[in-house]
Amino acid sequence: MRRLRRTGVLRGLTRETELTAAHLIQPLFVTAGADIREDIPSMPGVQRLSIDALVAEAGRVRAAGVDSVLLFGIPADKDELGSGAYDDEGVVQMATRALKEADPALTVIADTCMCEYTSHGHCGRLREDGTVDNDASLELLAKTALSQAAAGADAVAPSDMMDGRIAAIRGRLDGDGFSDTPIISYSAKYASAFYGPFRYAAGSTPASGDRRGYQMDPANVLEAIRESQIDLDEGADMLMVKPALPYLDVVHRVKQATGAPLAAYHVSGEYSMLKAAVRAGWLDERAAVLEALTSIRRAGADAIITYYAKDAANWLDD
Ligand code: PBG
Repeated sequence: MRRLRRTGVLRGLTRETELTAAHLIQPLFVTAGADIREDIPSMPGVQRLSIDALVAEAGRVRAAGVDSVLLFGIPADKDELGSGAYDDEGVVQMATRALKEADPALTVIADTCMCEYTSHGHCGRLREDGTVDNDASLELLAKTALSQAAAGADAVAPSDMMDGRIAAIRGRLDGDGFSDTPIISYSAKYASAFYGPFRYAAGSTPASGDRRGYQMDPANVLEAIRESQIDLDEGADMLMVKPALPYLDVVHRVKQATGAPLAAYHVSGEYSMLKAAVRAGWLDERAAVLEALTSIRRAGADAIITYYAKDAANWLDD
């Protein structure tokens, strides 16, 4: 076996998995205000950006060769119903317009969820008893997706894990003239401890309880296949597994079972673990990151959402 490993050219000729900037999506946090670049201590190198700073950063992402961004909004105010999520003048809607105006060729994907906008931090509307009311949440999610599409989002990405949300969003988009807007469904989103740094970044830790009543149990994989199939049946254009590295078997099995376009989300905790080890001098950042991302591709992901997208694209170019 070693004869074909002898030179870089021979290894290149026989490489089974390709990782390029075209596979990468850069998540970005957008906050209300102007001239804001706020470091997120739990995610070194990641910042909360006001719209002006966001447009500048998107320019750098594009210059690195990454053509897609995923937007998360951090609103000025939160309320019970997360009204900032479906406000046409909400932070993601305004950011989407600004990004598309500055660079129409940039693909803007809007994360569709309530948790960054609700005072209680849950991904939907609460009942009196504090549990999330599935069906009442669908209406809010559909409104959110519609206002994001109307602002110019190239795709919406529902990350709430309510049952029936893909059908509700598809119906609303189709009914209002956005039948061309694809839905990238967070179809197999696990109740993961690896979202910790993100919740710090977005201020979206549930005020009480946790998300295990709607996100998936990390012990399950057959359920991920069923979730994915249901989302496809409801009209999802692309599926997602989240997190990525601890769930590569899920990535593989969802791809094998469905054959559908698939994204994997290399989440905040995965990013922060790498950063921490790199900062301690324990890992070679470039080598470790490119190996991690290549492995996600090898498992079966078409696209990878990663906070390392811009850096990885620059490294791939060198
Ligand atoms: C919101 C959402 C979360 C992430 C993406 N969308 C957080 C959560 O479910 O608590 C996590 C992203 C990351 O950790 O990088 N529904």
